[in-house]
Amino acid sequence: MFRDKVALVTGGSRGIGRAIVLSLAKEGAKVLINYKGNEKAAMETLEEVKKIGAEGEIFRADVSVEEGVEKMFNFILEKWGRLDILVNNAGITKDNLLIRMKNEEWEQVINTNLKGVFYCTRAAVKIMLKQRYGRIINVSSVIGLRGNIGQANYAAAKAGIIGFTKAVAREVASRGITVNAVAPGFILTDMTEVLSEEMKKKVLEEIPMGRFGNPEDVANVVKFLASDEASYITGVVLSIDGGLSI
Ligand SMILES: NC(=O)c1ccc[n+]([C@@H]2O[C@H](COP(=O)([O-])OP(=O)(O)OC[C@H]3O[C@@H](n4cnc5c(N)ncnc54)[C@H](OP(=O)(O)O)[C@@H]3O)[C@@H](O)[C@H]2O)c1
Repeated sequence: MFRDKVALVTGGSRGIGRAIVLSLAKEGAKVLINYKGNEKAAMETLEEVKKIGAEGEIFRADVSVEEGVEKMFNFILEKWGRLDILVNNAGITKDNLLIRMKNEEWEQVINTNLKGVFYCTRAAVKIMLKQRYGRIINVSSVIGLRGNIGQANYAAAKAGIIGFTKAVAREVASRGITVNAVAPGFILTDMTEVLSEEMKKKVLEEIPMGRFGNPEDVANVVKFLASDEASYITGVVLSIDGGLSI
């Protein structure tokens, strides 16, 4: 499906990003696994890519720092000479009730989850415009659609991604580039592992399908949006949440 295609997955070392990396690699894509600090996890994911028989590299860069993002895109061009698929997946949480929320908690989440998407998408679109081909998939969240107590920073960033997706989708639609978002619900990863059992139980009761999602549930949809089968879809937000957002 993705033979001769080059993909970048931000935050590709763990969780949802890792599952996306592996699903693209299984279809023959060359994948750059971006990560921020956890080199061990990035290396392990790269090992898996190689076991599949695909080509990959790891690249340490904080998506919220412009210089690092520029270096990462230069690396891709030097290595593979093109970029076909960008998955803006890197994200963090710094939860707190609004009145207790520190400036740093607000800024870190907005910078990583929203500014990082801006930096990476801008750099990718420059390449994709020349190719007249590209697939951009942004990872938003059910929280960006519904909001959540203690997550005003995260909800703002994830809702921001949705507006950004639609605006950029319009800008590049005539150039063979699609830009879409996915909005996962509660997915079992390190990010949700830290939540209390009580909180998990409460969320589970709200999910019509009665189960949490797996990283692969998200990766399957991202793979579809990155494929030629989705070539007439742009500017949409696809929920992957077992019905949580109904
Ligand atoms: N899990 C859920 O239930 C859920 C639901 C909806 C949406 N999402 C979204 O899905 C995405 C992935 O979530 P996850 O649950 O897989 O998270 P995770 O397991 O915590 O993994 C986060 C990934 O992002 C990377 N990362 C964090 N900050 C970064 C930065 N500044 N620059 C580059 N990479 C960075 C991490 O790299 P290191 O390994 O180096 O730390 C790691 O690879 C996030 O955008 C999240 O908001 C998750």
